[in-house]
Amino acid sequence: MEIKEVFDLINQETDRQEKGLVMIASENYASLDVLKAMGTPLSNKYSEGYPGKRYYSGNQFIDQIESSAQKLALQLFGLDEENWHANVQPHSGSSANLAVYLGLLQPGDKIMGLDLGAGGHLTHGSPVNFSGKLFNFIHYNLDPETGKLDYAEVARIAETEKPKLIVCGFTAYTQQIDFVKFSEIAKANGALLMADISHIAGLIVGGAHPSPFPYADIVTTTTHKTLRGPRSAMIICKNELAKQIDKAVFPGMQGGPLENVIAAKAICFIEDQSEKFKSDQIQTVKNAETLAEGLKANGLNLVAGGTQTHLLIIDCRNLNISGKEGSNAMAEAGIYANANMIPYDPSTPMNPSGIRLGTPALTTRGFKETEMKMVADWIAQILKNPTDENLKKEIKNQVENLTAKFPIYPNLSY
Ligand SMILES: Cc1ncc(COP(=O)(O)O)c(C=O)c1O
Repeated sequence: MEIKEVFDLINQETDRQEKGLVMIASENYASLDVLKAMGTPLSNKYSEGYPGKRYYSGNQFIDQIESSAQKLALQLFGLDEENWHANVQPHSGSSANLAVYLGLLQPGDKIMGLDLGAGGHLTHGSPVNFSGKLFNFIHYNLDPETGKLDYAEVARIAETEKPKLIVCGFTAYTQQIDFVKFSEIAKANGALLMADISHIAGLIVGGAHPSPFPYADIVTTTTHKTLRGPRSAMIICKNELAKQIDKAVFPGMQGGPLENVIAAKAICFIEDQSEKFKSDQIQTVKNAETLAEGLKANGLNLVAGGTQTHLLIIDCRNLNISGKEGSNAMAEAGIYANANMIPYDPSTPMNPSGIRLGTPALTTRGFKETEMKMVADWIAQILKNPTDENLKKEIKNQVENLTAKFPIYPNLSY
């Protein structure tokens, strides 16, 4: 393969993102400044350690960037340095979660998290993940009737099991999380509370979802989802846990930090403090609500009956298709989403019964209620007629006409 061919593929992928409807709830569009920072010579530098305490020389500028990113991370959530500490080095959400478990617990210790099928993440104790292999995870689930958390049941399990850590914050949960209740349950049972806000961090910054601060002891988040930053993560914890967390990240499980990505995080944290970013978060939820109403008006069933966040899950069972068949048919029309488990899914994780849809990326490109109503109608038509090739072609054209009016990376080419 030639280098040019790699760039050709990068251009084709950029074009796909530009022309399609990105409705994968965990995806978004980072700004050109964020993308630019990742492609700088900061990528060349080794800076094992932390600002002021590095193992290599030549880190005077890197130190300033990383310290600023730490300060900006706290600012973003209105936190003070007297009480809170940010570690901006985790490479990804999964490694941030691993660092918390390894830093604060011993292998084999008991942790409570939401079941994967109900919307928890792999790193919340799935048996195929390091978390489920190394730690003794006990899972809570959703109420089978409502598709929502049952806090009394969470409290009952915590009282019986006495976990050392409770994890809340999820991958596919459509409702707001009551961090105060989780904190009460954790405190009553002598457990630490970790909020993994990977999905909802942006909403929290924009006031579109309640904050886990000051209720959680540790907060982890990816930076590439609703935060619109680079593909990466961070951990914010109470100061008394900072040493253990820092040690767990480095030297515990990572070597050199990705300082080019840390610079991109600093830029993202500056962007996210703007009024525009904050009002976009409110719009993200409004867009999800409009999408939910539009789908329901077309006779589609939604888990928990709708959404209070940036995402919703279609229950495909009354359509007589699997989530995969549905999301594949949508992709043929340029609408990208993922097949997802529904709570207590009668089918298998490889062939789940739901489709998860999110509105962060569409909101970033400027979609509002008018566009979301059109999108809801297109999705409903496709899911009701997933093998109708003409329909998918026609909708793909309409999708491309619409996205052309909301350019995201105009004239970007590598
Ligand atoms: C709640 C939650 N935590 C952690 C992660 C893991 O993040 P990453 O893919 O960066 O490892 C995800 C990713 O989807 C997530 O949804």
